Amino acid sequence: MIRAAVLEDAAVIARIHVASWRETYRTIMPDPYLDQLSAENRESGWRKSLAEGPVFVALDQTNEIVGFANGGPSRENDATEGELYALYLLKSHQGQGTGKRLFDHVLEDLRRKDFQSCIVSVLADNPSRFFYERFGGRLVSGQPIERGGKQLIACTYRIVLVPSFNA
Ligand SMILES: CC(C)(COP(=O)(O)OP(=O)(O)OC[C@H]1O[C@@H](n2cnc3c(N)ncnc32)[C@H](O)[C@@H]1OP(=O)(O)O)[C@@H](O)C(=O)NCCC(=O)NCCS
Repeated sequence: MIRAAVLEDAAVIARIHVASWRETYRTIMPDPYLDQLSAENRESGWRKSLAEGPVFVALDQTNEIVGFANGGPSRENDATEGELYALYLLKSHQGQGTGKRLFDHVLEDLRRKDFQSCIVSVLADNPSRFFYERFGGRLVSGQPIERGGKQLIACTYRIVLVPSFNA
């Protein structure tokens, strides 16, 4: 099930965020960088995000949060462009259609706010970038970024948002 997160979810989202980063980036980012990530440090950032806009969480059958996604105005481009800021699901819950459902919730929220497109930044080394290609994402650029002393490439994908008929 997907629901909108509330402020009280901040600590759990921060914990899932760190756990999912460690699972996703273990072979991509240096171990010391991933090991020093702290859910406590990320919690305040999530409180801020939750106050600013919707964050969607995926729940398992016992109503535990196992993933999350959020979006909003693009941090880079003009006012007509939205951005998917984050989409993370614990490995144990991937491959069951849940990531797509979280993604759809964010895109629908952006459409409702009249954004005409959505960008997402994803590391070139992350196979999840092909998920965005699967759903119409077009690669528009790549920029070097550094994480824990390692040089990486961040790809930007753009997804055109077709207005939904029941908007
Ligand atoms: C990317 C992610 C959210 C996808 O979620 P998921 O629940 O595993 O994917 P779903 O089961 O919803 O897949 C929906 C469709 O996308 C496809 N898909 C899923 N991951 C894919 C991938 N990496 N590459 C290509 N297609 C993919 C599935 O095969 C499925 O296709 P179908 O509709 O033809 O059956 C998830 O793998 C994840 O959390 N990855 C780690 C975190 C991450 O890297 N996030 C992105 C950071 S920018």
